[in-house]
Amino acid sequence: MAEPARPLISAEHLFKIYTSGEQELFALNDLSLQVVDGEFCAIMGTSGSGKSTLMNILGALDRPTRGDYWLDGELVSSMSDAKLSNLRNRKIGFVFQSFNLLPRLNAVENVEVPLVYSRVPAKDRRARAIEALTQVGLGDRLTHRPTQLSGGQQQRVAIARALVTRPRLLLADEPTGALDSETTKQILALLDTLHDSGLTIALVTHEASVAARAQRMVWVRDGQIVADGPPAEVMAGRRAAETPVAP
Ligand SMILES: Nc1ncnc2c1ncn2[C@@H]1O[C@H](COP(=O)(O)OP(=O)(O)O)[C@@H](O)[C@H]1O
Ligand SMILES: [Mg+2]
Repeated sequence: MAEPARPLISAEHLFKIYTSGEQELFALNDLSLQVVDGEFCAIMGTSGSGKSTLMNILGALDRPTRGDYWLDGELVSSMSDAKLSNLRNRKIGFVFQSFNLLPRLNAVENVEVPLVYSRVPAKDRRARAIEALTQVGLGDRLTHRPTQLSGGQQQRVAIARALVTRPRLLLADEPTGALDSETTKQILALLDTLHDSGLTIALVTHEASVAARAQRMVWVRDGQIVADGPPAEVMAGRRAAETPVAP
């Protein structure tokens, strides 16, 4: 019989330890996480709990101090920097709270940037970028620069840029953190559509209403997972854990 397929993400006993003088800070403290293909997983926790540290490792922007991280069958945690950036380009799309667009480039040029690194021929880049911008509802804003776009539109450009390489995994670290509630709704609806079309998504947020959109909620505290399951159950469990018991 064939071996069962490894999950898309398999992080095993991850530690991230920051040392300053005598002090050791365990930003991740023996954290294991598996995410299967097609899942939409929200990672929640208070500020400083280790969410961004985890996302940066899952996104191959950083390496754990100890532990193994497998992505789509590749052992990421022991890769050289060159291999890491190659893998990032092939398999991962990353969206940040602050959009991180290049101000001098227009929407289509911003979206083309990852294609330059992945050596897509110049003649194909424009069509791929236009396709990605159309997918996020910005087909009519192709030549606008970031300053000529609203926050929600800028985040859409950033999502198009993350999708244009056709990644296996979309990672979003507080993607709605800089947006008003109406724009947040629109971006979440877009993520729902992408998930429905089969994309695997891991989204970091500290807002319960945002996390509730996912199928699965992982709660991180002090660099460890303290709850994992359907959002409603995890939220109920957290409320119970944090509500002082009446005398
Ligand atoms: N580069 C770093 N050097 C030292 N400590 C760090 C560094 N990055 C994060 N930390 C610490 O690690 C912990 C987790 O940080 P982070 O992952 O950014 O949390 P979150 O995203 O949940 O707010 C915090 O205590 C933070 O101060
Ligand atoms: Mg963070």
